[in-house]
Amino acid sequence: MLFEWKDSLNVLVGVVDHQHQLLFELGSRVHKAMRHGETDLAPLLDNLISYARLHFEHEEQLMAVYHYPHLEAHRHLHGSLVARIVAFRDRFARGDAGVTLDIMLFLHEWLGHHLGKADIDFASFLHERSAA
Ligand SMILES: [Fe+2]
Ligand SMILES: [Fe+2]
Repeated sequence: MLFEWKDSLNVLVGVVDHQHQLLFELGSRVHKAMRHGETDLAPLLDNLISYARLHFEHEEQLMAVYHYPHLEAHRHLHGSLVARIVAFRDRFARGDAGVTLDIMLFLHEWLGHHLGKADIDFASFLHERSAA
């Protein structure tokens, strides 16, 4: 199942986990709307973009506070994620039918891979620091 929250995705930083779950929820809404053939995905994509920006900012602030050594690389990943969803929204607005499959693949990659790898790496760093 694409949009099923797994406990292994918890980074054990309360606010971040909560935000990730909400991103999942927003991703899942886009996914469902596409499956049901809804034609106006723009508002859902806008929601996802706004919330992703908010979340990324929060995560980067946390990284800065804790002097995370990979902050710049992580910030770069966030920037390209947002740029890609914005590009999807624009393609969608232009009536590009092929965009829905691309959006699904992208959500899968983002919510599975970025969150399940890059964010988990940061979480491990935080836990090592707090244990030190
Ligand atoms: Fe994240
Ligand atoms: Fe992240």
